[in-house]
Amino acid sequence: MTNLYGKREFGKLELKNPFVLPPMVAFGFAGESGNVSQRNIDHYDEITKNGAGLVVVEATCINPDGRLSPDQLAIWDDSYIEGLGKLADTIHKNGAVAIIQLHHAGLNAKADVTDYPVTSSDFERKGRFSKGMTEEQIKSTIAEFASSAERAQKAGFDGIEIHGAHGYLLTQFFSKKVNKRTDEYGGSFDNRNLIAKKIHDKVREKTRKGFIVGIRMGCNDDNIEESIERAKEFEKIGYDYLHVSTGFDNTQIEVEAPADFPCNWIVYGGTLIKEKVGIPVIGINKILKKEQIDYLLQNELLDLVAIGRAQLADHDYIEHLVGEGDIVTCIECRPCKWFTDGTKCPRHI
Ligand SMILES: Cc1cc2nc3c(=O)[nH]c(=O)nc-3n(C[C@H](O)[C@H](O)[C@H](O)COP(=O)(O)O)c2cc1C
Ligand code: SF4
Repeated sequence: MTNLYGKREFGKLELKNPFVLPPMVAFGFAGESGNVSQRNIDHYDEITKNGAGLVVVEATCINPDGRLSPDQLAIWDDSYIEGLGKLADTIHKNGAVAIIQLHHAGLNAKADVTDYPVTSSDFERKGRFSKGMTEEQIKSTIAEFASSAERAQKAGFDGIEIHGAHGYLLTQFFSKKVNKRTDEYGGSFDNRNLIAKKIHDKVREKTRKGFIVGIRMGCNDDNIEESIERAKEFEKIGYDYLHVSTGFDNTQIEVEAPADFPCNWIVYGGTLIKEKVGIPVIGINKILKKEQIDYLLQNELLDLVAIGRAQLADHDYIEHLVGEGDIVTCIECRPCKWFTDGTKCPRHI
């Protein structure tokens, strides 16, 4: 590889570097009813200036009852297109490819969002009951993903990323820990993946040729072997890229990374998946240091490297990494203060 931090092909598009700004909800930034606010626009402008080549805008909800929190960005109605268009323009102005993540929380929809959360099969956790979806509800959810993708395209985004990770709705279908269905959406491996296939196919029907359709997935649903098979299936279905993180929960994969591997098991899971597919794979989780990034890129273990909190702590992280200036290091507060209020991050002042 000639230039470690240089341009990369991404489908028919070109990225100015191999770095990704992963989806990260800026809690408290969105305007009323999930509209894009000036604060959202300023945030993306600041963090993408001289930044990552690929920007995945934060989890944006396809259905009001599927929200993670009341102040999440929304895309379930045409009225959101104009605001989202300003975000896409801002990201493009800064020279990055703009993707938006489409999200439904399923059983993780919050109590202040709905009293009736839905999931794959009836499920109870900490006294909160979620109802298994009817086939009709699954069908309309698939249609909502597709119409949201169409809106993202109208807003000017280059593509979408289906959220199939972090315990949200799709993982509740992939994982046998929740999915006990006996119809075509449950049971066998293929059946548990069917919702992701149908979403993909419907999105393709509603969007132009060349529109990017990626998916975020876990490397541990319900183990690495199954996740590798799922990744291969997603490639076969036609997804353009895979963004590998954690799945329904944080159960660690059983395969151990070599002693000199400088990152954690989640990144390692991504590298194992990359070995088995031909489409671009993005890896992530606690990749903070230049030595880690260089190791992953030099050894071609991942196609693209996503850097989350480190970019929240230092909005000029990529500039500092590639060129001049010292990186302001994320100190991994627990929990990250961006979950409550971005202005409280002790490193981003
Ligand atoms: C404040 C915050 C918000 C997040 N929001 C999302 C989100 O909208 N969608 C998503 O898939 N992951 C989300 N994540 C997870 C990140 O994309 C990433 O996977 C995680 O922070 C680990 O990567 P890191 O160690 O580089 O930060 C969020 C993380 C943080 C800290
Ligand atoms: S709040 Fe803490 S964990 Fe989150 S980005 Fe800032 S320094 Fe990192």
